Amino acid sequence: MAAQNDAGGHLSAVPSPEEQAGLERFNALIAEDSRIEPRDWMPEAYRKTLTRQISQHAHSEIIGMQPEANWITRAPSLKRKAILIAKVQDEAGHGLYLYSAAETLGTPREVLNEQLLSGKAKYSSIFNYPALSWADMGAIGWLVDGAAIANQVPLCRASYGPYGRAMVRICKEESFHQRQGFEILLELAHGTEAQKRMAQDAINRFYEPALMMFGPPDGDSPNSQQSMEWKIKRFSNDELRQRFVGMIAEQVKVLGLTLPDPELRFDEEAGRWVHKDLDWDEFKAVIAGNGPCNAQRLERRREAHENGAWVREAAAAYAAKKAQKAQVA
Ligand SMILES: [Fe+2]
Ligand SMILES: [Fe+2]
Repeated sequence: MAAQNDAGGHLSAVPSPEEQAGLERFNALIAEDSRIEPRDWMPEAYRKTLTRQISQHAHSEIIGMQPEANWITRAPSLKRKAILIAKVQDEAGHGLYLYSAAETLGTPREVLNEQLLSGKAKYSSIFNYPALSWADMGAIGWLVDGAAIANQVPLCRASYGPYGRAMVRICKEESFHQRQGFEILLELAHGTEAQKRMAQDAINRFYEPALMMFGPPDGDSPNSQQSMEWKIKRFSNDELRQRFVGMIAEQVKVLGLTLPDPELRFDEEAGRWVHKDLDWDEFKAVIAGNGPCNAQRLERRREAHENGAWVREAAAAYAAKKAQKAQVA
């Protein structure tokens, strides 16, 4: 009988010699900062954690297309429209790399997709907020993609090979996304008074939800420690959040705008940035499905999935035909 792995990857029952060898190799690879690949033995809890994390990440990329896609038809110029289309398309690509990475852990894409459509799986809470003005395209690029980069750059070194490699490519595209958002805000900030107000209003609305993208405070994040021991995560939620807030505190000066945080300051003694308390009750409510746009986002996704059925059928039929031809040859 197979032994069970506890959360630490330690075997709680008597392991078979094969499992024992697998675990030793796994621990050695982690200790020397090498990569775990799909064919390697890994503790069940490691596989589960990664499947959940990577698929949630993929869902976030796919759902994250919606707030911006809403603005493609209303972009203020052909240039802005072309950039926004390219950006939204990149996010679809990120979703696809990540579903592929998640699949290498053994759960098929249809199952992961079903978890999203049924509302069982989570995705980043930020995408349940509405994009109300054109300036939101700027605030989303600068703050939301910016927070994503701060989160994801360390993930390029995640111990699971396919995840880390997907992240390298994704981060390159995210940095373009952040710059295009910043540039939208910069132009608005130098425009008319109304445009400047619109930019400030967008920043005011996205600041807190963007800081929440790093997840709950360290004291309230029970799985973080294990993820750090497995070298999936390299920094804690609060460390990443502080690093990010320090970055945008400088950048906002270039915009000539402000962050809606009177408590924001660099604590010289502690050597870190301090920000105001965030509304974690709101965060929990949004994660639980009660944010301003949760229902709308899922409904749109279900609709898109149904409308795309013929594409999946055609692709499957084409693949089957090709396979059959190859067999005959
Ligand atoms: Fe992305
Ligand atoms: Fe992005």
